[in-house]
Amino acid sequence: MSGPVYQDGVLAHGTHGERERLRLLEELNDPTTVGVLERLGVAADWRCVEAGAGHGSIARWLAARCPDGLVTATDLDTALLTESPVPANLTVERHDVTRDGFPAGSQDLVHARALLGHLPDPELALDRMAGWLAPGGWLVVEDPTYLPAADSPYPEFAALLEACQELLARAHGTDHGWARRIPAAMARSGLTDIGMTMRVAVCGTDRTEDAFWRRCFAQATPGLIETGLMTAEQITAAVAHLDDPAFTDTAWMMVSCWGRRPS
Ligand SMILES: C[S@@+](CC[C@H](N)C(=O)[O-])C[C@H]1O[C@@H](n2cnc3c(N)ncnc32)[C@H](O)[C@@H]1O
Repeated sequence: MSGPVYQDGVLAHGTHGERERLRLLEELNDPTTVGVLERLGVAADWRCVEAGAGHGSIARWLAARCPDGLVTATDLDTALLTESPVPANLTVERHDVTRDGFPAGSQDLVHARALLGHLPDPELALDRMAGWLAPGGWLVVEDPTYLPAADSPYPEFAALLEACQELLARAHGTDHGWARRIPAAMARSGLTDIGMTMRVAVCGTDRTEDAFWRRCFAQATPGLIETGLMTAEQITAAVAHLDDPAFTDTAWMMVSCWGRRPS
């Protein structure tokens, strides 16, 4: 694979704070993900793949939900997935979703959150994942996207969010515009019953959300300064908004999409 490599970038699992950032990501986004999966009707005997599983909360939720099925949690780096005991129906596999696969038609559910936007060709990865689905099986893909920075009443905060996006694009090849293209990509892959919802991340009023973004900004700070995208003073001024009781603005929206392989 050419281009930026996830494990060498600012979001690599070994980066200081990334473990906690992933835990906060789960705490904030699991309720929406679980809501989507529950509406699809995950059954006790489903075979599921959780791709780019990170810390593994959704893989573990699926394992509890599918006692007669099998859940495979994959990641480039599986260390966080085996930190606590792994249930018998949960398999952990080191797996690069751009190269490694599952047999065609072998899965009832394939889920990936905050993964495809980091890949060099998210459409191709989605197409490959759709190919793993059995007839009637569901693909669920979730990725974040941002509102236009120019519309923010807090230019310093919006500039920091934009600089972080640029840093991720350089470090990991991340494309935050991808999230809005997911339903069209699902349709091109031949999926039907396509749906979309999103959770807006509001900063300034939710302690967990603010803790997540403080973590993101702290991890990005060395890279932002090193690349000249922002100065230390600009970052400090932007992050200080989170201490202002009057401050409220959006950070990103987590877009959740689902589509089904025709029976
Ligand atoms: C931002 S984290 C999201 C983790 C988890 N899906 C969640 O939402 O809580 C992205 C995860 O994808 C993994 N990842 C990145 N590139 C990958 C690839 N090519 N194949 C498999 N996993 C990958 C990373 O190691 C990381 O654990």
